[in-house]
Amino acid sequence: MAKTIIVSNRLPVRVEGNAQDGLKFVPSEGGLATGLGSVYQEGENIWIGWTGYHPKSIQEEYEILDYLKKENMRPVSLTSEDVKLYYEGFSNTILWPNFHYFPQYIEYKDEYWESYQEVNKKFCSELLKYISEEDTIWVHDYQLLLLPQMIRDIFPKISIGFFNHIPFPSYEMFRLLPWRKQLLNGLLGADLIGFHTYDDMRHFLSSVSRLAARSVKEQHVQNGERIVLVDSFPMGIDYQKYATSAASPDTIAQEVLFRTSLQGKRVILSIDRLDYSKGIPQRLKAFELFLEKYPEYLNIISLVLLVVPSRGNVEKYQELKQEIDLLVGRINGRYAMMDWTPIHYFYRSLPLTKLSALYRIAEVGLVTPMRDGMNLVCKEFIASKLDKSGVLILSEMAGSAKELSDAILINPNDVNQIIEAIHQALTMPREEQIQRNEIMQKSLQRYNVHHWVKVFMNNLKKIKKEQKALEIRQLDESGVQLLLDDYEASQQRLIFLDYDGTLKTFYKEPNDAFPDEELLVMLEKLASDSRNHVVIISGRGRDPLEEWLGHLAISMICEHGVWLRAKGKDWKKLRDVDDHWKKEIYPVLDSYVSRTPGSFIETKDYSLVWHFRRVELGLGELRSRELTSHLKYMARDRHLQVLEGDMVVEIKNFEVNKGVAARKWIKKYPADFHLAIGDDWTDEDTFGAMPPDSFTIKVGVQNSRARFNVDSVDDVRALLEKIVK
Ligand code: UDP
Ligand code: G6P
Repeated sequence: MAKTIIVSNRLPVRVEGNAQDGLKFVPSEGGLATGLGSVYQEGENIWIGWTGYHPKSIQEEYEILDYLKKENMRPVSLTSEDVKLYYEGFSNTILWPNFHYFPQYIEYKDEYWESYQEVNKKFCSELLKYISEEDTIWVHDYQLLLLPQMIRDIFPKISIGFFNHIPFPSYEMFRLLPWRKQLLNGLLGADLIGFHTYDDMRHFLSSVSRLAARSVKEQHVQNGERIVLVDSFPMGIDYQKYATSAASPDTIAQEVLFRTSLQGKRVILSIDRLDYSKGIPQRLKAFELFLEKYPEYLNIISLVLLVVPSRGNVEKYQELKQEIDLLVGRINGRYAMMDWTPIHYFYRSLPLTKLSALYRIAEVGLVTPMRDGMNLVCKEFIASKLDKSGVLILSEMAGSAKELSDAILINPNDVNQIIEAIHQALTMPREEQIQRNEIMQKSLQRYNVHHWVKVFMNNLKKIKKEQKALEIRQLDESGVQLLLDDYEASQQRLIFLDYDGTLKTFYKEPNDAFPDEELLVMLEKLASDSRNHVVIISGRGRDPLEEWLGHLAISMICEHGVWLRAKGKDWKKLRDVDDHWKKEIYPVLDSYVSRTPGSFIETKDYSLVWHFRRVELGLGELRSRELTSHLKYMARDRHLQVLEGDMVVEIKNFEVNKGVAARKWIKKYPADFHLAIGDDWTDEDTFGAMPPDSFTIKVGVQNSRARFNVDSVDDVRALLEKIVK
């Protein structure tokens, strides 16, 4: 039976052990482990990952295996060398700081990279023990960026999803990594790549198109013969679990104990793993300044600071721990009273009942990361507020801020803003608290973790289906015969032919583009059959097409469908389109021409094209990627579309495309045989417009909506020869 295999560096349980007490299995901290709990427990599904523990004996190893098996988990064992180089090294001293915008914390070391590759292979080997072709593999997070392609190399057709739980940095940050291309290539082995936010997704796509030399169309990346879908899926929490836990008698009993110890003091709550990305020192300083600015809260308000130990062998984490200890000591030393502790500091992990009790007690949730992929703590805080009171202060730099806009949003670098936010929270009227929390609770209830899993999995199925539809199907003898039979049997035929790359091979010099004698004769023959209506459908401007083919009894659609000329008639514009944007965009293209010898601009009525086929090999590709992302940025608010063609980058009005024009033609000229041939992705719109049962043919071995593929212009000509015979 097909199953889902989850793979992540860390399993949702950690193993701890010592000689006296034996082994202990404790839930892992962190958003990933707490979020996916429900998925792997279903049916045959399994979760593969690291337990965080080196078994000390064979007995221990069996005990761990036994326990994990019962829980649908399988361990990957990491040596202490792996932990040092792959986990603490590459994952947490290179990728984590880079992805969280702390480049100054990175230690670039080749041995880390070597180990990262080795351990990703190790995960792959472990996976191979359980995997079969019809399974779905869901890989998680930055520790396993190379794994998707490793799996793909062995199972070319298998479904692979990847989700990144931390931010994806902007191109400027990501490109600092010496191994950036290999990392992107590894990831692109997946079929679906998910991020928490739209911005993470945008950053990733920009790196892919600029660094990995893949063409990106909207959210699709063309990766060889496979398209990869990239999208954002903000992760939710298990809402019911937190709401139920908040209501449980154990939690309420715990709350009473806490409240008694706190002697009626009001509480601000802060919960994080020990991590510099969480902004804990900055938060402590803000709390100190708050007490300084609003002394009326002395002896009234306490900050409960729960810091969960994490990555304790990494130097920056050790330094952070010392910094927090010192700060807490200093602030408590400065302000504490016999009956009041300003900061209650816990450096440990707490079980759910205690966490829920803290969420219940706190009037204010103070979540101020410098950068966070999502942040689940803030969502759990809201879900635990059964009476809807309480105020969330949330950093704009957390992915969750995109959803929780009814929190008090702050910039974690703006200490004054945090101080004022605390004051606002402590004085916020209850009705306003309820109003804000109601909205956030509704949204968290709806977009819960089950919803997240469902949407992700549905999208994975969707892209697998799309890939199948786009699969390459070579036009063979029997396909040709089928086409010829239908052609013979039909009375009215509509034949759409793209020009460059379809009827004529790409050229180096402009003169090479002229139609040769053989082509003209063939088109003439094709057009001479009164049952045939031949339409040249091209991105070219009117003038060259008119000059080269205007004498033939054919129709023409040019500039991707701006201009139409039915045979024997005059040119007509499909619709009025705005071309004012050309004045603004032209100078941008011109600046690329100045920097790229051999490139030139072609001006069409409603589009501009930058050609680089005569540019030095390598330089043209490099500049075209830069230009494409520059133009895509400019295109956003102007309703323009950027097309990456063969040795060209074109920008045009969005509403014009070959599909719109073809559809119009098909409606106007009914036919019982439709053929469309094209070579680049502007022709995909033509294919999409064709009625079912049409013959659509893509020139080139690439994915396409077309029914068939042929290799080259020569094949197209050979096919047309057979048709006109
Ligand atoms: N957490 C926990 N035990 C604790 C404190 C926190 O299990 O003592 C959990 C918390 O409930 C949350 C997760 O750890 O689900 C932290 O996830 P978040 O996304 O906020 O941050 P991350 O650690 O993933 O960066
Ligand atoms: C974040 C990461 C997870 C990681 C967790 C705990 O949530 O996204 O991949 O598991 O932190 O960190 P650790 O290094 O202890 O696994």
